[in-house]
Amino acid sequence: MNSIKNTKIFNENEVDSAAELLSAGELLAFPTETVYGLGADALNPRTVNNIFVAKGRPADNPLIIHIADQADLKMLTDQEISPLIKKVIDQFWPGPLTIVLKKSSLVPEVTTGSLDTVAIRMPNHPIALRLIKEAGVPVAAPSANLSGKPSPTLADHVIEDLAGRIDGILDGGQTGIGLESTVMDLSKEVPTLLRPGGVTYEELTEVLGRVEIDPAVESKLDDISKKAISPGMKYKHYAPQAEVLLLEGDSSKIKRKIKEIINKNSNKKIGVMITIESIDDYEQAIVKIMGSRDDLSKVSQNIFKLLREFDADGVDQILIEGLVTEGLGLAIMNRLRKSAGYQILEV
Ligand code: TXA
Ligand code: MG
Repeated sequence: MNSIKNTKIFNENEVDSAAELLSAGELLAFPTETVYGLGADALNPRTVNNIFVAKGRPADNPLIIHIADQADLKMLTDQEISPLIKKVIDQFWPGPLTIVLKKSSLVPEVTTGSLDTVAIRMPNHPIALRLIKEAGVPVAAPSANLSGKPSPTLADHVIEDLAGRIDGILDGGQTGIGLESTVMDLSKEVPTLLRPGGVTYEELTEVLGRVEIDPAVESKLDDISKKAISPGMKYKHYAPQAEVLLLEGDSSKIKRKIKEIINKNSNKKIGVMITIESIDDYEQAIVKIMGSRDDLSKVSQNIFKLLREFDADGVDQILIEGLVTEGLGLAIMNRLRKSAGYQILEV
């Protein structure tokens, strides 16, 4: 049994004190441009292990190491930085792109879930960059939520999930993109997209040419023993307490179907998460607008926050309008399908 920790809250003027926790081998949640991360010294196996304990995360789900300087890449990987890798980094760092490379012996096995590869990114957030520099160590950080829950986009979400389980939270307000970084495997011959995120598939193909999409990005890995390249893809994810149903297809049909489901389930408290274009009279349902179909960056900012709000509202079921899978839509739909546990209704 773990003792309850006194979780200290820091503001953005207290980055130095927050960084001291990281240098001292403690756990600190901090803002990035994607979501809040739960950071620890990536090279210290004991503190990295504490991340897994605090989140309730399976040990075979590896962590991303965050750096603040391209030069720090060298000590983390044994792979030669090819001109192509250099081009990708120059183009997208700092930013929401994580690259997977062969790991160096300096990186502890606990950090990579015993894989021989390591995931690395340089976040594009002034507080995160200052913090990592100040701490003077590469920072391993998964999203700062309890395992299985939607990722945190506000310090309040981190408090909700992890207060008493970690040493500190650095509050930097709301995160920008709202969903996690794109994960690209560059350790093999053909660059492979393992998780869609803030850097889009279209942007990546412009720089990399051919990019493969791992099958787990768009569909369910139904057999849990099936080998996932990115182990995180096989676990339950982004799931609110309520049952989630994702409706995909023509938007006017989706609207009609939502109304039908509400009518058939008058005994249930139903939440509806839709675009502004699909506002309608949904009777007693609790309706939340995720943004406009014409501005997916707003939608990506909102979805995790809204899923958490529905939990606070105590709804029994959440009905979500599906979107296109182009641009940021690929990442948004990947998260929504997972949050629905792949309960999808095609209309
Ligand atoms: O935006 C983000 O990436 C956030 C912020 C905090 O930086 N972090 C984040 O970490 O989303 P996490 O742990 O929630 O997701 C990391 C993902 C998992 O799906 C994991 O399986 C994958 O990256 N991953 C990590 N190391 C890997 C490796 N060596 N090979 C393949 N996939 C890896
Ligand atoms: Mg996560």
